[in-house]
Amino acid sequence: MHRWINTSLYLYMIVDVAITNLSFGYFAPGWKFHTDLFVNITTFSLPYHFTTSPLEFQIFLFIRQTFCAIAVLLIILGKKEKTKHLLPIVTFNAVITYCFSLVKFLAFSEDYEQLYYPGVWFSVVWAILSGALQVLVWYFVLSSQSFDYHRLLSTTADSEDVPSPETAADSTSDTPSNSNVESGATSPATPRTPLRQVLRQLFSYCGHQWPWFVAGFFFLIIYAVARVFIPNYTAQVISDIVNRGGTAVLLHSIFILGILTATSSFFGGLRGGCFDYATALVALRIRLDLFTSLINQDIGFFDTSKTGETMSRLTSDCQTIASTVSTNVNVFMRNGVMLIGAVVFMFVMSWRLAMVTFIAVPFVGFITKVYGKFYDKISEKLQQTIADANQMAEEVLSTMRTVRSFACEKREKTRFENLLSSTLSVNRKRALAYMGYTWNNEFCNNAILIAVLWYGGHLVLNDKMKKEQLITFLLYQMQLGENLYMLSYVMSGLMEAVGASRKVFELVNRKPQFELNGRLKPTVNGNITFSHVGFTYPSRPNNPVLKDLTLSIKAGETVALVGPSGGGKSSIVSLIEHFYEPNDGTVSLDGVQIKDINHIYYHQKIALVAQEPILYNGSVRHNILYGCDFATEDDMLNASKMANVHDFVMELEKGYDTNCGEKGVQMSGGQKQRIAIARALVRNPAVLILDEATSALDTESEALVQQALSRCAQERTVIIIAHRLSTIEKASKIAVIVKGHLVQMGTHSELMSETDGTYYSLVSRQMLSAKVGDE
Ligand SMILES: Nc1ncnc2c1ncn2[C@@H]1O[C@H](COP(=O)(O)OP(=O)(O)OP(=O)(O)O)[C@@H](O)[C@H]1O
Ligand SMILES: [Mg+2]
Repeated sequence: MHRWINTSLYLYMIVDVAITNLSFGYFAPGWKFHTDLFVNITTFSLPYHFTTSPLEFQIFLFIRQTFCAIAVLLIILGKKEKTKHLLPIVTFNAVITYCFSLVKFLAFSEDYEQLYYPGVWFSVVWAILSGALQVLVWYFVLSSQSFDYHRLLSTTADSEDVPSPETAADSTSDTPSNSNVESGATSPATPRTPLRQVLRQLFSYCGHQWPWFVAGFFFLIIYAVARVFIPNYTAQVISDIVNRGGTAVLLHSIFILGILTATSSFFGGLRGGCFDYATALVALRIRLDLFTSLINQDIGFFDTSKTGETMSRLTSDCQTIASTVSTNVNVFMRNGVMLIGAVVFMFVMSWRLAMVTFIAVPFVGFITKVYGKFYDKISEKLQQTIADANQMAEEVLSTMRTVRSFACEKREKTRFENLLSSTLSVNRKRALAYMGYTWNNEFCNNAILIAVLWYGGHLVLNDKMKKEQLITFLLYQMQLGENLYMLSYVMSGLMEAVGASRKVFELVNRKPQFELNGRLKPTVNGNITFSHVGFTYPSRPNNPVLKDLTLSIKAGETVALVGPSGGGKSSIVSLIEHFYEPNDGTVSLDGVQIKDINHIYYHQKIALVAQEPILYNGSVRHNILYGCDFATEDDMLNASKMANVHDFVMELEKGYDTNCGEKGVQMSGGQKQRIAIARALVRNPAVLILDEATSALDTESEALVQQALSRCAQERTVIIIAHRLSTIEKASKIAVIVKGHLVQMGTHSELMSETDGTYYSLVSRQMLSAKVGDE
């Protein structure tokens, strides 16, 4: 490998020296090699003159050779990887070489004779080529990794304020930004999606709306072509006036100009409309894809993701992407077409002047590229800080009661202010970068204008160009400047979109840890079996929750899960609900592994009343019938009566149409639980799971609900988690779960007979506290 690198480097150096110097032998008309010229020029024996001497090509050669020598030295010292730091400088040198070679070419063209010297062409072309070749050698051979501006940057300023995923995961400090240390463990630092891939996906979204883009593009071509001719006819009108060619001639030119402007305005409008509608379609599609992807993620994903942040992706980021992409595609195409037109016209008017303009293009391009990458990074950071602020606001606003009851308003305000100020600081960086970029652009534009005026004037005065041509040229040049400006604007817009889309696409492309792709629809009796189940939450991979758990629940049984808090009861329920998949062993329903059962079918047969039931912002009826299209009004009423919902609902003004409020805030804790029970019962499940489902009820309503539940328990399997002895006692079996193990199983009386068992001590403690309460 090393030998190969060295060989290509040496080869490049030798070829460079040879061609650059041998060209000097051809600095005379004809194809004969002049040894005397070669010797005189290479030994600097001829007097220097800017329009005749090729001395500068030797200087450039010297600089290139120096770079190569440094590279050779670094390789010998075994520090090859350091060469990649030189890549920006080498690129910059190539750009400068290009600019200067063209200037030199124009200087040679002052004496037209010199353009017949093959040496002039060799020198100019080789200088440009060799610069480019050196960049390629650096890019592909020396820095075997591609040039990544971020990596250069990340060692300096950027690493200070935003921890990269790696540093966030490694860091042991507990600053707020590192609060997701845990999540860092589950989502191993994902590498940054390459720019190319983001762009490809971005444009594939536009591709889906191709009819609108094609129509827009068609109108755009007509529009841009009409616009391209406008400066030409404007110049025509001006010279008609200046040359006093007569009214008829003037009117003719004005007429053509009128037609051109009318055409461009009409088709410009059509084009705008098409692109605008395409934007809306793109936004819709991205948002829908993101939402679909989110809703199909595994529950583990939601344990670590932050709702506010995700919301920010779904709203602000998606909008940014869609509007910037479509607008920029539009602007890009329009300006691209007009730019090509302007360039053609400029070369037709005067190739010399056109070259002056193009001398600076790669320079501006280089700056734009560097700036573009920087801007991409900054935009992504900006969207991240906005998302953080949104996340915090969402969290606080949705838990306002807790905030108020602990009087944390001021604290939360300061926290929000801090997040806003980090957004501001990123914005400040962006503004600074933009300032530098604008300076550069403005300077280049004006410098080119002055150079063109000077050189154009010089050409006109020397009769190498007509004055009308100069006017036309200037008009086109102005248009070109405008086009280039817009194109650079597009660049920053596009980078903004890329910054926003990287995170969005990461979410869109995220594959859930397991798919809900079971197909079986077995007849369900309600036998649930856990066989040697080991389970660990994905967000805490080092804390096993269930360990080698084997548990069998027969159809029609009522089984109570009891045990100390944090023992793993709710986790068992989560596994039955297929929120997670066990790490070891299997969970099956009637002998079929639940992962193989059709998702929708399965959840019609299994119903859960969770420990903290969540209601939706909608009527009581809507909440009870959630996801249960097959149930009738009568089914709903029956379920409500059984769950003891009916009576209190009837007392409300709007009955079953009463709104429950966001997350059910307009209902009391007990009412929420009862509605949740009704929601579970209405689907007439084969397995009913109640996780502390009656904990918020008073003794009387609990007794009523319990009665109803035991009535309906006869025809189904019921899994009950409760702390109250009265609820547990009646269960046909009791499973005691401690620290993820099944330690005891049996009926109440069986377990009570084991006086040294956990159940016995749990019950005696409860009875003791009940007695103390009575006294
Ligand atoms: N989503 C989660 N992500 C990570 N760890 C969790 C999650 N849910 C629960 N745990 C952890 O798993 C362990 C078992 O929790 P689980 O909720 O199953 O206990 P439990 O027996 O239902 O307790 P309780 O009687 O208090 O409801 C606990 O240590 C808990 O901290
Ligand atoms: Mg629990």
